[in-house]
Amino acid sequence: MKNTITTFQTMKEKGEKISMLTAYDYSTAKLIDEAGINGILVGDSLGNVILGYEDTLSVTMEDMIHHGRAVARGCQNTLVVIDMPFMSYQTSVYDAVVNAGRLMKEGRGGCVKLEGGIEVVPQIKAITAAGIPVMAHIGMTPQSVNMFGGFKVQGKNEAVAKKLLDDALAIQEAGAFSVVLECVPDRLSVLISEKLTIPTIGIGAGAGCDGQILVYQDMLGMYKDFVPKFVKKYADVGTVMTNAFKNYDNEVKAGTFPDADHSFTIKDDVLEKLY
Ligand code: KIV
Repeated sequence: MKNTITTFQTMKEKGEKISMLTAYDYSTAKLIDEAGINGILVGDSLGNVILGYEDTLSVTMEDMIHHGRAVARGCQNTLVVIDMPFMSYQTSVYDAVVNAGRLMKEGRGGCVKLEGGIEVVPQIKAITAAGIPVMAHIGMTPQSVNMFGGFKVQGKNEAVAKKLLDDALAIQEAGAFSVVLECVPDRLSVLISEKLTIPTIGIGAGAGCDGQILVYQDMLGMYKDFVPKFVKKYADVGTVMTNAFKNYDNEVKAGTFPDADHSFTIKDDVLEKLY
């Protein structure tokens, strides 16, 4: 079944949980699509897990388009969401619409995601007015890490909790079809999810959200630079990969790879003429 923003809305209304993972390339997207995951986010987390930066700030529009179109080619049924990178929408409403348009036309996403609350309401209104669905993202928003003074849970005190609720309502009013809640206390997520008619997608926000998202390298144990508390490791693919690389290294050095099964043959009479 092809997932669209309508699927997400219907799932919320029926009380069915929405599953999302990140992906950044064709072959991983294809596996995730085949597994029946509802949505793939081409996250600007690619800055960390693909490009090796310490944060997401250096990710460019070209990076997002390049990885977005690779993911889109791998997806039959999964809704593809492409992140708007740092400074592609904060600068002006005009920039926001132009860059969201590029992610759809060139990146081939089904919608875009941007970070922020009340302060990005004009951008959300303008992008949706241009016919582009918007997923919002509040709580611990990585593009604002320097404002937060590090990766910290948001909404533990009354003032910030109230702001998150106000942000969520404003985003919904502006026309966003869904909102990511990142690093938000579990019972605050329940409250926000109950107050909103659009689906909430949690990451480090407890079980009360309408859906969940994880960075796939985190849940497969492939990225060990920083593992947040909320990550559950579903497989130790990192260790499987390292062991396979070691086995290959050993066999190459021992001369046992490639063997006859992995080589091509030539007829004796053809070869003899060359000697
Ligand atoms: O870029 C990303 O992977 C994200 C998720 C953490 C939601 O924004």
